[in-house]
Amino acid sequence: MPSGTTLVTGIGVLVTNDPALGEGPLGLVREAALVLDGERVAWAGPAGRAPTADARVDAGGRAALPGFVDSHTHLVFDGDRTEEFGARMSGRPYAAGGIRTTVAATRAAGDERLHANVARYVAEALRQGTTVVETKSGYGLSPGEEARALRIAAAHTDETTFLGAHIVPPEYEDDPAGYVALVTGPMLDACAPYARWVDVFCERGAFDGDQARAILTAGAARGLVPRVHANQLSYGPGVRLAVELDAASADHCTHLTDEDVDALAQGRTVATLLPGAEFSTRAPWPDARRLLDAGATVALSTDCNPGSSFTSSMPFCIALAVREMGMTPDEAVWAATAGGAAALRRTDVGRLAPGARADLLLLDAPSPVHLAYRPGVPLVSAVWRRGARVH
Ligand code: NIG
Ligand code: FE
Repeated sequence: MPSGTTLVTGIGVLVTNDPALGEGPLGLVREAALVLDGERVAWAGPAGRAPTADARVDAGGRAALPGFVDSHTHLVFDGDRTEEFGARMSGRPYAAGGIRTTVAATRAAGDERLHANVARYVAEALRQGTTVVETKSGYGLSPGEEARALRIAAAHTDETTFLGAHIVPPEYEDDPAGYVALVTGPMLDACAPYARWVDVFCERGAFDGDQARAILTAGAARGLVPRVHANQLSYGPGVRLAVELDAASADHCTHLTDEDVDALAQGRTVATLLPGAEFSTRAPWPDARRLLDAGATVALSTDCNPGSSFTSSMPFCIALAVREMGMTPDEAVWAATAGGAAALRRTDVGRLAPGARADLLLLDAPSPVHLAYRPGVPLVSAVWRRGARVH
């Protein structure tokens, strides 16, 4: 843990995500400073009123934001699916079956290799400003392999999700009910100690509403909080099931009826949008504007995985959300920070106010709007996590 206090001053614009500290929903403070004390933020406000500290960093007029909270990734895998991507870009549609390719590669990989893969993608994300990352199992699909994936994930993040119900593996092709019984029985027993969340890919070709309900309910009975891959490839019951079970988030939300939107607006389930997936599968964009106008809470995440969205870049997702999904730059920045924290039911991250975790980034730009305005440019020039400078 870093010792002593550090004053970060000369911040052109500070995003606090605390409306009590500054302007608008982002709680913007101009000409700002922050004081970090160990792992926490001790003070945030106008630079002219900042208290003294043991050390001083000059941000040189750069914008400062909370670290991005990427609440949906699949990092425990081996191999890639370059050919599948190439075929898709020549017109072949995305299908859940491609997951099997990664299951085979992941089962064949040793622990050290999988650890190294997760570490590499977490480090890649960190350089782009992501200080909290959720990650899922889902490429093991047997009790031993899913537990192994979660043990590996748990060495890299506290936010681990049991996704034994990603697809039905080949060995259960003729017995999907038997697979659901495996997931809700021995697999859950093996995995629950290493997971905080339980997730299901509720989709045609994966798990239907009844199967998803059985799996999420069994997970919840073991203390895992539900989150759902919902309405990604088609209309379906996933979103309404997520809200009904008070899931922390419904992820994808690409094909929504008015009833789905109303459910999200009325419940406390966060709508997590994953524009990297629509980009990489040439699918229609989720309508963030419709969700926001209805009053739903929206988060943005990368969905980083080798099949549908092989990006770890939250800035890229922000740019897509603004250009293609009807979000304003401020809404997208909120969704990638405070929204991600809400999707993980966290209040210690995603904001920069006294008491929050000292997770922040500096942008080589005068405003957070530049994340969308200058797409593809590596603007994240410094990152602190738990008060320690990590990039
Ligand atoms: O979130 N939709 C299901 N799971 C992933 C895709 C995984 C894969 O294609 O390997 C997703 O898009
Ligand atoms: Fe996913």
